[in-house]
Amino acid sequence: MTYIRSAAFAQTGYVVLDTYEQARDPKEWLELEYVDWKSSGDTRFAPLASAFGEMECNGFWNHTPPRTDKDGVWVQENVEKAPILKARAEEPGTNIGRCRVIELQPNDYASAIYNLHQDDNNRLNPDGTGWIVRSFFNLSDDKDSVLILREDRFDPTTEVRIPLPAGSQLIVDTQRFWHAVWHVGPEPRYCLITSYTSGPELDAYIEKYHGKPQDANPPLPQQVIDDAQTSMQRRLAERAATLASQGKRAAGAVAFDDDSESDSDD
Ligand SMILES: [Fe+2]
Repeated sequence: MTYIRSAAFAQTGYVVLDTYEQARDPKEWLELEYVDWKSSGDTRFAPLASAFGEMECNGFWNHTPPRTDKDGVWVQENVEKAPILKARAEEPGTNIGRCRVIELQPNDYASAIYNLHQDDNNRLNPDGTGWIVRSFFNLSDDKDSVLILREDRFDPTTEVRIPLPAGSQLIVDTQRFWHAVWHVGPEPRYCLITSYTSGPELDAYIEKYHGKPQDANPPLPQQVIDDAQTSMQRRLAERAATLASQGKRAAGAVAFDDDSESDSDD
């Protein structure tokens, strides 16, 4: 496959942009309409752009005709309430797929590790076109929460933890990384997530806001990491056993879309 990719992602797979002055904006995200997603009520999404402009969050490949995560249609009821968020999503000037605000309830590190997943943004993406990546603009002020990225799902030495204060802006190749958010709370976390097509427009946007990898992870005791590894292995084994008893196959290392089964999804 010969997708168009950003050179900025070649080494690390993500960039942190300059911090946005979030405090000067009204909290538009509190006015939006949210929809429950899948079985869990812990994570809700407020769609700003969906496959056909409807108030729903499904992957574009689950619609008829199925297509990749490009050419999202604005959801009028929500963008009318969030003109600033829409403008921020549009600023790079590249193609937008899904765009929504996530509302995430507090969780813990072990749960986030268990929920690590890869996105499936590039399903049906035609060869030779732009690789789809995702931006995360944190809206609520969650200084002690982190986006966790792992190149190897089971190897904590590959872990990157990026703090999420208000105004933090990240762009991540979420199909490359296993990822999830550890949200400390106590209030829900809100984040604007947008699927972007890689290309010269996105490159220029990353350069304008000085996108680069972070210098170092915030510290985390080794015992906390070790305990989470043990917990993840146990919970994955339990899930596999449950699925096997039902005659189903565990997802295992197979990538699944961010929306499919994770409370800590991003
Ligand atoms: Fe995801």
